[in-house]
Amino acid sequence: MLTVTNLTKRFGSKAAVDNANFDVNEPAMIGIIGRSGAGKSTMLRMMNRLADASEGSIVFEGEDITALKGAAKRAWQSRCAMIFQQFNLVPRMDVVSNVLHGTLNRRSTVATMFNLYPEDDIHKAIEILDRLGIADQAPKRAEALSGGQQQRVAIARAVMQDPQIILADEPIASLDPMNAQIVMEALRRIHEEDGRMVIANLHTLDTARRYCDRVIGMRDGRIVFDGTPDQLTTGAARDIYGAGDDFSEAATSTEIQALDRSAATAVNA
Ligand SMILES: Nc1ncnc2c1ncn2[C@@H]1O[C@H](COP(=O)(O)OP(=O)(O)O)[C@@H](O)[C@H]1O
Ligand SMILES: [Mg+2]
Repeated sequence: MLTVTNLTKRFGSKAAVDNANFDVNEPAMIGIIGRSGAGKSTMLRMMNRLADASEGSIVFEGEDITALKGAAKRAWQSRCAMIFQQFNLVPRMDVVSNVLHGTLNRRSTVATMFNLYPEDDIHKAIEILDRLGIADQAPKRAEALSGGQQQRVAIARAVMQDPQIILADEPIASLDPMNAQIVMEALRRIHEEDGRMVIANLHTLDTARRYCDRVIGMRDGRIVFDGTPDQLTTGAARDIYGAGDDFSEAATSTEIQALDRSAATAVNA
């Protein structure tokens, strides 16, 4: 369904993504993990065509995404919705209108200018907000919502596009643990109930383990791990995050210690 071959992105002499290869054969929920600077965002940006690849290809259902231009590229971008750490909503606009922005690609300029939306679309937007548990927030301005609610509005806007793939770049990095959980559960439900592929950049291991079917680990632009959460051993995790002094991202290192302890317990048992 999705095949990434020899994908490389260079900035000057530096390869932000360095010869990445992977295949996805079903609409899975995939977590991409790795330290800051590992190349996770660049990978997603190339998939969504916010960035052009320097080399290699991304083929989705037989079509080479990296070669698309103009209208074909925009059509791809609506099949492949993107969610960001900072939500990227229009703060002063109400929640429903923010969600309806997900239909922008298929509306005329005139309809957009006058903020005209078909009634069916408005119903659909409210239905999606309801699925995500925030229909009651619909008339409020986006800026009046909590971070967790705003990220769910961003998910609703993505779902409104009816995409086959949802790409999420650190969707919970700005949220407290409780809201992080609500947002990850929302992504998981959209994945399971609608059969949409989700690829989420997550910088902590525990979140990827808990919500994803498959984990891709990146380090210095390269894919150094690709497997199920079960296959992500302590050794594999160390390899992904490196063993330097800065190996102390709070949640990740806590999780690594827990893994070490359970590995030690397993050995001692
Ligand atoms: N627009 C850019 N110009 C130059 N270097 C960049 C640019 N975007 C990313 N990089 C570099 O590419 C590497 C990977 O960045 P990024 O994909 O943002 O990593 P991550 O999302 O894993 O933190 C980093 O070294 C970063 O500094
Ligand atoms: Mg990033």
